[in-house]
Amino acid sequence: MYVCLCKGVTDKQIRKAVDEGARSIRDLRQQFGVGSQCGKCTCCARDVLHEALHAR
Ligand code: FES
Repeated sequence: MYVCLCKGVTDKQIRKAVDEGARSIRDLRQQFGVGSQCGKCTCCARDVLHEALHAR
């Protein structure tokens, strides 16, 4: 599913980024631009990020 519509970022991409070392929302923003436009996705992106971190 899409997490960030502005940047077209999916939960899959976020999970993959975590596998490759992303650890924070800041990492995701740098990598994909998540949350850098309307900002509405920040909350959902954080949920996906934390879920992915805990699943490791
Ligand atoms: Fe992510 Fe707008 S949906 S910045």
